[in-house]
Amino acid sequence: MQRSVDRRLVERCEQVVRQRMAGQSAGHGLDHILRVLAMARSIQSQAGGDLGVVELAALLHDIGDAKFHDGVERSGEFAREILGQLGADGDVIEHIVRIVDNLSFRKREEAEPLSLEGKIVQDADRLDALGAIGIVRTIEYGAAIGQPFYLAADLIDGSGKSRTGIGHFHEKLFKLKDLMNTQAARLMAEQREAFMRQFLDQFLRQCAGEV
Ligand code: NI
Repeated sequence: MQRSVDRRLVERCEQVVRQRMAGQSAGHGLDHILRVLAMARSIQSQAGGDLGVVELAALLHDIGDAKFHDGVERSGEFAREILGQLGADGDVIEHIVRIVDNLSFRKREEAEPLSLEGKIVQDADRLDALGAIGIVRTIEYGAAIGQPFYLAADLIDGSGKSRTGIGHFHEKLFKLKDLMNTQAARLMAEQREAFMRQFLDQFLRQCAGEV
């Protein structure tokens, strides 16, 4: 296995991330980071790449999330600072910062191409928006911004999608499967999306008064 990062560096980085993200809101806080880390490891075991780089990028990819920093995305900056303090090699730091800076869904039009390690972490990050987790995150996020999961009007004309969690499923989440970089993640995304569609199908049938 390709490995350019010391195991202890990853462990120390995880400790720093756990401390710094403790107390950030659920859905996009530490719980998200630890799920992305676990999924990135799983994808790496099939897709290859440098495991230590994958782990560090997964740990640091939302460390300066704009939501918690007045709308300014600071993850790349914080990743550089943390890795520098932990004594990581310059090459590793530059690689991680490039991944973190070019990962997000919002930036995908202007993003630079990602390395294999970056593609793996991006896939893991997108997978965390799908499946049972994706359903819960959509509902929690909707509750936080006052957006309902469902409006009766959705049943009638399917319009106004962005006003609801169900709209978010269609506008964003069901597109993620086709954006996956690795075959391993595409298969996981297919399974997760199938579960969400099954959930939606039951939900809408029950809204219509069926069993
Ligand atoms: Ni993320």
